Amino acid sequence: MEFSQFIEVLKKQLMDESFLTGTISQPRLRSNDIQRIKLKKLEIQNELAIQFEYQLEHTMYHKNLSFEEAKDELSQQLEHFRQVHFDHTTHASQAQISKKFKVLYKTTQHATPKEANFSHNRKKQYILSEEVIHPFLVELGVQTKEGKIRAAKHAKFKQINRFIEMVEDTFPHLPTDRPIRIIDFGSGKSYLTFALYYYLVEIKKRDVQITGLDLKKEVIEHCEMIARKLNYEQLHFQIGDISDYEEETVDMVITLHACDVATDLALARAVHWGAKVIMSVPCCQHELFNQLHAPSLDVLTKHGILKERFSALATDAIRAQLLQLVGYDAQLLEFVDLEHTPKNILIRAYATNAKIADQDYEDYQQFKQLLQAEPFLEKELKKFGRL
Ligand SMILES: C[S@@+](CC[C@H](N)C(=O)[O-])C[C@H]1O[C@@H](n2cnc3c(N)ncnc32)[C@H](O)[C@@H]1O
Repeated sequence: MEFSQFIEVLKKQLMDESFLTGTISQPRLRSNDIQRIKLKKLEIQNELAIQFEYQLEHTMYHKNLSFEEAKDELSQQLEHFRQVHFDHTTHASQAQISKKFKVLYKTTQHATPKEANFSHNRKKQYILSEEVIHPFLVELGVQTKEGKIRAAKHAKFKQINRFIEMVEDTFPHLPTDRPIRIIDFGSGKSYLTFALYYYLVEIKKRDVQITGLDLKKEVIEHCEMIARKLNYEQLHFQIGDISDYEEETVDMVITLHACDVATDLALARAVHWGAKVIMSVPCCQHELFNQLHAPSLDVLTKHGILKERFSALATDAIRAQLLQLVGYDAQLLEFVDLEHTPKNILIRAYATNAKIADQDYEDYQQFKQLLQAEPFLEKELKKFGRL
């Protein structure tokens, strides 16, 4: 079959009621960024559309197109590939396109027709696609060498994607004229540190220098070994205590699940350096729990479990308010679903030059008075002359 004739056949197939999915693969040129395109019929707000999912070497993106747009996109993309597979409710078709654009085309009937259920066959699309091999995920044991996300690591994979989604929003606050300097305090096994490096450097092509700091010698040595193996030249791991760490220019401070007041040590240093972005997910929060002495809250705090949860929420509220008082716009976001862990609040704060309202200071004092507490972060910030 001639190539021009084949395009017309395929466009017709795409429009056919029986069309379900398609795959366009085998790029003609090695230099082609797109390795494969997957097509899928979808129902979006009661309208049928065709989703084009473009798979690149390390990432993927997708577009939902109307039928007319999809026909144009299909004919443009077909020129760059040599294999096409379309699946319909009743049959499948397969085409091989030669170097000289001659097409070998065949169809096979399904023994039993397939069901078409477009509204239910949508799967969550992650920034790091499940269908692409991400070398750092393989090294960290989240993905198999064949690219399958290990069942036991699915929650971690979801968390990594959620974190990256949140990092994406911080881009306008980060420098573009020099390397972005990032510190991850209490980096531990560093899944998210590696994810951040991979996303910024390999996918977004940004110039970064990332350091992961942790007290634990073995984990730091292990992470450093993986970073060298992956040739992540600007990612390093260092043994150390947050309270002793010194640096001059830091653009972004991350601290994820750093125990108790380690989070406050990190936040205070970030403020001291004037970091443009802070991302923090607190961990166990004993400090306020142990101080809390508020008779007017007895009805709540006499129950251990409520006292613990209340102390954690109050600690996050205090942190957000203090960040606001030192010139940050602090947002509290849900990090992962509550079903996975109660430690699911992420504080994302951006440095602003906004003037602090007296009322915000008053509100903070009143809250502190109610709790009868002396927050550790306040003391740390005062140490740096920031309050
Ligand atoms: C629960 S782990 C979290 C690891 C990683 N950030 C994550 O989210 O998967 C907390 C880490 O913080 C580290 N840490 C606690 N206090 C620290 C301090 N003062 N200085 C450096 N690291 C600290 C611990 O050694 C531990 O590895």
